[in-house]
Amino acid sequence: MVKKQISLIAIDGPAASGKSTVGRLLAEKLHFLYLDTGCMYRAITWAALQRGIDVADETAVTQLARNIQIDIYPARGEADGRHYTVHVDGQDITWGLRTPAVDANVSQVSSYLGVRREMVKRQRAFGQRGAVVMVGRDIGTVVMPEAPLKLYITASSAERARRRTHDRQAQGHTADYGDILADVQRRDEIDSNREHSPLRPAADAILIDSTDRSPVEIVDAIFQMLKEPVNGNR
Ligand code: DC
Repeated sequence: MVKKQISLIAIDGPAASGKSTVGRLLAEKLHFLYLDTGCMYRAITWAALQRGIDVADETAVTQLARNIQIDIYPARGEADGRHYTVHVDGQDITWGLRTPAVDANVSQVSSYLGVRREMVKRQRAFGQRGAVVMVGRDIGTVVMPEAPLKLYITASSAERARRRTHDRQAQGHTADYGDILADVQRRDEIDSNREHSPLRPAADAILIDSTDRSPVEIVDAIFQMLKEPVNGNR
């Protein structure tokens, strides 16, 4: 068997499609670094809300994105279920990123061209290290179009809302399925129709529907794909 030489894996898809879990498990299995780029847009949103910056003020939010220091570390055995730790200017804001206020405002923040340019620059620098699984909305189309393996993971909006409701409740928050479904659909609409880097699969991405499949099943299928002989070597 000839294993394809893959050093960058790009995973895109809508909110709660399972892409982050798949990406994380795949990175663990391959001993690759893992970067969930959504947390960078969330970090800016969190900081804007915290500092009283109006998220509708594109100039102020862009300025913030250029000046803010965002550090992402692997989890170090913290007992709160986190998969990684995010610091903004040295402060641990890992759980602040998942609040309803951040959910409600992050699509707007991530629609700003200046914010995207700054984040894409930082994401590319990370990707250049190699041996990376990077997850987001525009990784295969904009951030790492050269990635030799691009996956686009989707699921029905009803299933994605069900997962998000379950996650929220598991974290001890109250969560209403109807509200979450409306938020998922609203974010899909903004992410897919925004002017800059809208959510869409790269032309050469492999499409995966996770509605009826667990992340582990999907990771196993991807792993099998990586082990397949390269064309011409069968
Ligand atoms: O994956 P997530 O829900 O954490 O993403 C948060 C927001 O950030 C979402 O509205 C889309 C946006 N995002 C983006 O525009 N580009 C990325 N590469 C990752 C996320």
